[in-house]
Amino acid sequence: MCGIVGYIGNKQATEVLMNGLSKLEYRGYDSAGVAIINDEELNIRKYKGRLSVLSDNLSQNKIVGNIGIGHTRWATHGAPSDVNSHPHTNCQNDIAVIHNGIVENYMKIKKWLDEVSDVKYKSETDTEVIAHLIDYFYDGDLVEAVYKAVDKMEGAYAIGVVSKREPDKIIAVRKDSPLIVGIGESENFLASDIPALLKYTRDVYLIENDEFVILTKDNIKIYNEFKQEVNRDIFKVTWNEESAEKEGYEHFMIKEIYEQPKGTRETLDRRLDDDGDIYLDGIKLTKEDLDGINKVYIVACGTAYHAGLVGRTIIEKYAKVAVEVDIASEFRYRNPIIDDKTLFIAVSQSGETLDTLAALREAKKHGARVLSLVNVVGSSVARESDDVFYTWAGPEIAVASTKAFTTQLMAFNMIALHIGLTKGTLTKEEYKNLIEKLKELPDKIKQILDQYEDIQEIADSQFNNEKVFFMGRGVDVNIAKEGSLKLKEISYINSFAIAAGELKHGTIALIEEGTFVVALATQDRLYEKMLSNIKEVKARGANVLALAKENNREISKIADKVIYIPETLDELTPILSVVPLQLLSYYIAVARGCDVDKPRNLAKSVTVE
Ligand code: M6R
Repeated sequence: MCGIVGYIGNKQATEVLMNGLSKLEYRGYDSAGVAIINDEELNIRKYKGRLSVLSDNLSQNKIVGNIGIGHTRWATHGAPSDVNSHPHTNCQNDIAVIHNGIVENYMKIKKWLDEVSDVKYKSETDTEVIAHLIDYFYDGDLVEAVYKAVDKMEGAYAIGVVSKREPDKIIAVRKDSPLIVGIGESENFLASDIPALLKYTRDVYLIENDEFVILTKDNIKIYNEFKQEVNRDIFKVTWNEESAEKEGYEHFMIKEIYEQPKGTRETLDRRLDDDGDIYLDGIKLTKEDLDGINKVYIVACGTAYHAGLVGRTIIEKYAKVAVEVDIASEFRYRNPIIDDKTLFIAVSQSGETLDTLAALREAKKHGARVLSLVNVVGSSVARESDDVFYTWAGPEIAVASTKAFTTQLMAFNMIALHIGLTKGTLTKEEYKNLIEKLKELPDKIKQILDQYEDIQEIADSQFNNEKVFFMGRGVDVNIAKEGSLKLKEISYINSFAIAAGELKHGTIALIEEGTFVVALATQDRLYEKMLSNIKEVKARGANVLALAKENNREISKIADKVIYIPETLDELTPILSVVPLQLLSYYIAVARGCDVDKPRNLAKSVTVE
């Protein structure tokens, strides 16, 4: 959940590292630091707080040097503080380490180091042991010392190491945490994620698990765990720097909400062939493969999990195969029933969520065929899958996921239609009609975005609530869950979502005068039932905002406010109905003065358990 960068070349390292860190702050933002080498010394600056604290310090008190590493932190071991910030050093302060991930056996390593050396610890972090381990093993060869240190470590990590003892190199290692290397002319770069490097290069190497990298100014060498040199193809990044910038919007989140018509359209259009049929380039599943599948398992976390819940409805309806959906952190410890007749679908925006990755590996171990829906090209989940569907949302920077979700829903529809047609559970005519319906969705999202002023007005009148309920039936329950997650993560309002039919089994006891209830009533066949549920909460004093399709107008007589979404098939409403809920959360968070793009205690990419 942290961001790491490294630079070696002719530029001032501080400038490159700070630029890179500013693009990685979404990965963690409770403290930041750099370690820079010049001829005489290893300079470390690290502070609790946002990157601006470090940058203010560096602008008042410059560090000169052309080699360095930098880090932005999301605390796991030890509270955010100057001393717990990275880089961490050995006792002589001449080896510096940055780390993303967790060294799970760090207590055991500490105990061992206490027995064999005279280490004095400065911080409460797991990372610090890495610097001491490297120091302990150093015998004139930094690379060898890092190999030996890593050999003792368990857990997930990407680390970067520099040392005054060998000031001409950066060493990096990856195990289950993202790491890329940027290729320059007489300069090279290291980072957790592509946006950190876009100002300088679009040519990168994607580093695999258990690989070591040695960066010098003129050379990049990659080795596997057996110390054999590896030849890696250059990965060309196609998006530009601007697509990872705010472009005049106040926050990344609102920019990304507005990018949804484009993201959903691209996700669809790029996979329609000349006949208008779906062509899934990264998916090699044949009719024979699909006929052999008797169960689909969808596994993900957070918003991606909610996309999976919607995905279940769509796949069951069009492809007529039983689907189970699970939260990745539960799935991996649950002995799920999986075999070679299972299609396992991992859903992840970042493709680096550790629980999702671990669940995927578990499924593979049991023989499942793994298909992933991923936004970040070349990410770990994508690389470890048999088949990949890349959503075309573009870089998602705000911690609250928005455009990744709607593109994931588009992807699920396309996959379900493809399976349905291939297996024969959909006729060609049904398939064609459904594609036409999908094509209409981007413009319909746009129509909802055009209602932003109404939604902002509702947000301005409701932002002071300290509890909010979301309810719905059928596929709306999943969007109620997503709306609720969005609201709580960025506005810190205590919100939760329920299936409306469950109201009278307990939750209705919490409804009192003025309670804000968001009621989703977009499903034609469940509409009347939802009207009854709305009446029930109204009778207890609730203030109800309803969401309905635009032809269902009588709801306005019952609810206090209604946001209408354009007409579409019931199964397709989630792509539309989530949009007003994203806007509502956004405007409420803004009205409450919250840091929308960087909510407290969270990070964009959860690469720890
Ligand atoms: O990168 P992923 O899609 O795997 O991330 C999964 C969740 O961490 C993510 O969706 C999280 O719940 C978001 N902050 C929700 O807005």
